[in-house]
Amino acid sequence: MRPERTTRDRLRRREDAWDGAGQDPSNVTTTMHDFKVRNGQLYCERVAVDRIADAIGTPVYVYSRHTLIDHFQKLRRAFHRMRPLICFSVKANGSLAILKMLVSQGAGLDIVSGGELYKARRAGCPANRIVYASVGKSRDEIREALRAGIFCFNVESLPELDAINEEAVRLRTKAPVALRINPDVEAHTHRYITTGTAESKFGIQLEQAERLISARGSAFGSTRLLGFHLHIGSQITRSAPFIQAIRRVGNLISRLRKRGIAIEWLNLGGGLGIVYKDERPQTAQAFAEAVVPHLLPLKVKLILEPGRFIVGNAGILVTQVLYRKETPGKRFLVVDAGMSDLIRPALYGAYHEVVPVISDKRQGTSDKRQAYDVVGPICESADVLAKDRRLPALGEGERLAIFGAGAYGFVMASNYNGRRRPAEVLVRGSRWFLIRHRETLNDLVRHETVPSGLLT
Ligand code: LLP
Repeated sequence: MRPERTTRDRLRRREDAWDGAGQDPSNVTTTMHDFKVRNGQLYCERVAVDRIADAIGTPVYVYSRHTLIDHFQKLRRAFHRMRPLICFSVKANGSLAILKMLVSQGAGLDIVSGGELYKARRAGCPANRIVYASVGKSRDEIREALRAGIFCFNVESLPELDAINEEAVRLRTKAPVALRINPDVEAHTHRYITTGTAESKFGIQLEQAERLISARGSAFGSTRLLGFHLHIGSQITRSAPFIQAIRRVGNLISRLRKRGIAIEWLNLGGGLGIVYKDERPQTAQAFAEAVVPHLLPLKVKLILEPGRFIVGNAGILVTQVLYRKETPGKRFLVVDAGMSDLIRPALYGAYHEVVPVISDKRQGTSDKRQAYDVVGPICESADVLAKDRRLPALGEGERLAIFGAGAYGFVMASNYNGRRRPAEVLVRGSRWFLIRHRETLNDLVRHETVPSGLLT
């Protein structure tokens, strides 16, 4: 029998035995995610990650269904007193299988383009659970969303409000809108993902919104004002900035109501942080306990738009070592995933934990750890997935998992350097499913034309 066979058989036996074998399955539901090393093997739920990589190749994104549904439900339970509409933010992970699963759990979707509207519809999301933000909605996109009958446009400027109004008049309909307020609060996160300060391009200044509503009331022609939208940034680990934003918009709501203007909805946006390294983000429960007392007196219906919180820790990127390269000054593991697959480290200097897929000594992996930079094959100095990580001396073909890759991972992938975007797999218990094929070489040229007039 070939040695790989023996290994696979052994893994299979382990997976089958896992439910009972000294593990408390209830642990899994209370922890942050379902990626665990057991007996030297990395598992996603009850499937050995190595087995998926054997079958699909690398790089491959692997998601845990249980983790993301658990996160969705945790948020819903934490806010149960307000019965919010939870609109998963499609930009964090737009894979249809994931959208469909969340929609079937009762989620709505937060979209930012006509493309995401299309995906939301393909995922079977009822239109009345779709909210649409973006500083640059085109006329075509506005018309498409009006025709679909989405729940609400989150309006980011006065010219946009006029455009939505004009299109609604043309289509003889009423456009439901919320004004996205820029509350000018500091979210204490990376500057690239801070969206609620005065100098950012997002939202409408509070005073400007107040002047507008005072002048026009809550019905601006063919638009109907449902309420306000906030989204102050992403990967926010504390509740204070949210509370500050709620207070500011809450004062506005009270002033408007005194003038007889009805405000029914408040959308608090997304932004809840997760653990990548040593952050101590609030749990859904702690977040709800901190903000709900500020929301209840406003007597509004609530929308939440989480992305990262639901899916961030529900996905890993699995890659394989091509070369171990040592120079006088540095040790590198050159792997087959790069910034074209996961751009967060290159773009934000983001930290993602790196874990060997097999750390079992019997697999020939030495226990001696040394500091390596894990780098991709792309011709850019920024193509570093992880810096100075203590890892075993992995050799060609051995695999690594990059954690926390479920949000803003695949969705930000590109074809740079002629790379095919990776496959995606979803694990449910002891089964796994391919939810996206790896791109083919033909995909790289699919939309190109070489007109003969150019060649002669
Ligand atoms: N709602 C709106 C209007 C947003 O702009 C965003 C994210 C969300 C909700 C979801 O935010 P979350 O819950 O995921 O924090 N590419 C960056 C993150 C960009 C976030 C953009 N807006 C990253 O990889 O960290």
